[in-house]
Amino acid sequence: MHNDVNGLFDNLWQQYLQVTPSAKKIHQLLSQDQAVLNDHIAIRTFDLAAVNLDVLAAHFIAVGYEEKGQYNFEAKKLNAKHFEHSDPRQPKVFISELKVAECSESLQQIVTELVAQVDESVTSAAGFVYGGAPWQVSQAQYQVLLQESEYAAWTAAWGYRANHFTVHVNTLTTFDTLEQVNDTLKQAGYALNMAGGEIKGSEEVLLKQSSTMADKAIVSFSDGDLEIPSCFYEFAQRYNLANGQEYTGFVAASADKIFESTNAA
Ligand code: NI
Repeated sequence: MHNDVNGLFDNLWQQYLQVTPSAKKIHQLLSQDQAVLNDHIAIRTFDLAAVNLDVLAAHFIAVGYEEKGQYNFEAKKLNAKHFEHSDPRQPKVFISELKVAECSESLQQIVTELVAQVDESVTSAAGFVYGGAPWQVSQAQYQVLLQESEYAAWTAAWGYRANHFTVHVNTLTTFDTLEQVNDTLKQAGYALNMAGGEIKGSEEVLLKQSSTMADKAIVSFSDGDLEIPSCFYEFAQRYNLANGQEYTGFVAASADKIFESTNAA
């Protein structure tokens, strides 16, 4: 595992840009050559023991992260936790896992077959969380998963990587609000995820979020290449708690809609 938090995120960022070319352009558009702080990244997995949320979390705990919140997404059959670093400038990490036992027999069979290809030497290696899919998956398996769970299909195809990076809008020097960021993105021609409205959340819940729709990129399936939705870019504006500290949690109702940013448009 990594012992250097910056090295870990540099690798995650470079891997993410390879399949999310829009993020590089948007980063330039919003940063105006100033540093951009990331609010959080998100990682997806299955809840089978070999690759579950705890297995992913261990890589972040090893570089100084601590668990700070738990979430449940009933309809999407997901659990999630978020982790924070003692240095608040480091991104929060949101890890979710699909509750495989609650899914159909056919989904369980495919996911079990994929995860059986992964052993502990793979999941404990430094690069596991940015190693992509550690299994072989076919287009037929992908299509079966996609009919039942977009989340399962995406995770099977793309594996371990940042599903999204998130700009911490509060720290941008040339934008004051998420609305201004969204307007700039729309004027530049980017499609935003409209599920649940362009902005998820509100000042009342101390967090507003928006996101692009995922780029598309080619996955090498075991039976050939196919272009599918890859990763997206998210934007978060946070508000202060009564004690004057910035709210650092997540709002489940908003995250539920953000997951849909990888739906085929
Ligand atoms: Ni997010």
